[in-house]
Amino acid sequence: MTDSPGLLHPSGPGGMTGQCAVVTGGARGIGASTALELARSGASVVVCDVVDPTQTVAQIRAEGLSAHGHAVDVTDRSALAETFAGYPQIDVLVTCAAIYGETADIDDLDDTDVASVLDINVKGTLWTLQAALPHMREHGGRIVCVGSVAGKVGGVRAGPHYVASKGAVHALVKWAAKTQAQYGVLVNGVAPGVVDTPMIVGKGYTPDYCPLGRLAEPEEIARVVVFLASPAASYMTGTIVDVNGGAAMG
Ligand SMILES: NC(=O)c1ccc[n+]([C@@H]2O[C@H](COP(=O)([O-])OP(=O)(O)OC[C@H]3O[C@@H](n4cnc5c(N)ncnc54)[C@H](O)[C@@H]3O)[C@@H](O)[C@H]2O)c1
Repeated sequence: MTDSPGLLHPSGPGGMTGQCAVVTGGARGIGASTALELARSGASVVVCDVVDPTQTVAQIRAEGLSAHGHAVDVTDRSALAETFAGYPQIDVLVTCAAIYGETADIDDLDDTDVASVLDINVKGTLWTLQAALPHMREHGGRIVCVGSVAGKVGGVRAGPHYVASKGAVHALVKWAAKTQAQYGVLVNGVAPGVVDTPMIVGKGYTPDYCPLGRLAEPEEIARVVVFLASPAASYMTGTIVDVNGGAAMG
């Protein structure tokens, strides 16, 4: 037995000490969990959200770790650019911000709801990549986009606009992986199954939706995101990793 540090320990081979990691949608849910796990792996974390992410920042700082928070809407290109200008070197970007939409049935869709879901989930991801990449290309880095099992299998209960938005995120991952590899920027996605966060409250999901027979906890997604964001995932790009309790395989 050696006493070498674990894979993602700050001083281990996947550690992120000295790195700057930006997380959108970090005020709660999977984003908040991811921000905390990135900080535990050694990164200095920049938490962005349309609502004030003070609580996440305080939780990270309470562990003696580094975090900064910004209230920024991912649909606002200039606000994103302004925020990221404060961080000349971004090593890791996690795009987590998204909404679920109001309706699940195509017969009930309305323009405003569809526009909001596509604006935040698709254009918001696009604008976030656009704003962050100039801060990553010189030295390389990692991007992880949070997609969904919905984008792979046509949804569990979500509406068609949410399903389409997540399919688009998966496609964007592949576009970015192809075009940014030359800069040493590796881009992957995760496709979570149903996760116990405020997003799904009251939506009628039940634990039997997957073979593991339970919903995921946010940190079970966060740990996979952190692995993909870490130096340990050095030969992965363009992949969408399933984290869905076996709900969809292959
Ligand atoms: N919960 C699930 O079952 C589930 C399953 C698959 C994928 N996902 C995906 O995981 C990610 C996180 O979801 P969650 O479950 O933690 O949801 P959540 O609703 O708990 O968190 C989403 C966060 O995004 C923020 N946000 C929303 N609009 C924004 C905007 N315009 N600009 C900046 N921030 C904005 C919210 O304020 C919130 O803090 C999303 O991309 C979601 O689509 C969730």
